[in-house]
Amino acid sequence: MKSIIVNAYGGPEVLEVKNIEKPTPKSNEVLIKIEASAVTRASTMMRTGTPYFGRLFTGISKPKVKTPGTDLAGIIEAIGSDVTQFQVGEKVIAATDLKCGAYAEYICMAESEMIVHQPENVSPEEATGIVDGGSTAIAFLTEQVTINPVDKVLINGASGSIGTAAIQLAKEFGAEVTAVCSGKNASLVKELGADRVFDYTKNDLEKSSLQFDVIFDTVGKLSFRKAKRNLNDKGVFLTPVMEFPTLMHMLFVNPFSKKKLKFAATGLRKQDQRMRDLIKITDMLADNKLKTVIDKVYSLDQIQDAHKYVDAGHKAGNVIVKMA
Ligand SMILES: NC(=O)c1ccc[n+]([C@@H]2O[C@H](COP(=O)([O-])OP(=O)(O)OC[C@H]3O[C@@H](n4cnc5c(N)ncnc54)[C@H](OP(=O)(O)O)[C@@H]3O)[C@@H](O)[C@H]2O)c1
Repeated sequence: MKSIIVNAYGGPEVLEVKNIEKPTPKSNEVLIKIEASAVTRASTMMRTGTPYFGRLFTGISKPKVKTPGTDLAGIIEAIGSDVTQFQVGEKVIAATDLKCGAYAEYICMAESEMIVHQPENVSPEEATGIVDGGSTAIAFLTEQVTINPVDKVLINGASGSIGTAAIQLAKEFGAEVTAVCSGKNASLVKELGADRVFDYTKNDLEKSSLQFDVIFDTVGKLSFRKAKRNLNDKGVFLTPVMEFPTLMHMLFVNPFSKKKLKFAATGLRKQDQRMRDLIKITDMLADNKLKTVIDKVYSLDQIQDAHKYVDAGHKAGNVIVKMA
């Protein structure tokens, strides 16, 4: 089978297309024929091995796993003798986490891992595309804050993977949503439900008098020090990007401040919490309450181009790799 193989950390050129042996499922495993995978920011960070503390999980001098890719949608092609929850021919969505392996035509996973049934009404591209941004956004907006129907929520990086999911979720929870993006993505974020659009290339948030209960900086581009002026008295600033000032603030300022700065590494939570979120977003896809935004679709042979595109930091929604 065709698979991407990496032997070193580095630029997109470390991603090589190889032919390797198709795996055979063990008694507790399913064999999934992968239809689509996603190029997430996590997969580009795992490729470069940065930030360096991430190497504690992915390998110090070179990647521990040879085949990258953490999210997939596919069809069960075979099952082990002890498998009870899945049958041959069923469509599934899966997250492989640090085990990776989703940039390939086939993968074996234990049925106890992060696998859910794929809703009938979505394509494999839509199914795999929602896993990263959707799971991250729902974790932040349900575990780190409670969104009440009257709340005013600002989503920065609203056109990204987390941002496009966060707009829809905040609207679903009843909030009034202000989406921050560049002008070229204004119509996209409005279609997703944003009540107001703020063009970050033309306006400065800190200079505005807008006030929010929650500011979700999905791309880690705002400074909490400055943005806290735009937070209500008990407002919360959420970020999925850990930087030194964030850590210092959480340790030494948060305990004495009404306005809180919160970070979470949602992918490192326990499997039952992550599974609960994956089921929630899958159900929302099935009920048409959540839509996957797809920017570009590449083939497995074009994986280097897909990574270059994501590295540039301006994708709108999600970038997909479609298997042949
Ligand atoms: N902590 C966690 O659990 C966790 C989980 C998943 C991801 N993450 C991290 O979260 C971050 C975001 O991930 P993502 O996949 O959502 O990102 P993404 O999709 O790559 O974000 C791209 C979007 O960001 C927008 N953008 C770029 N610069 C901006 C700025 N200065 N202000 C506002 N928007 C800007 C771009 O719009 P324009 O083209 O208009 O500039 C583009 O649409 C990454 O750093 C990722 O590693 C953390």
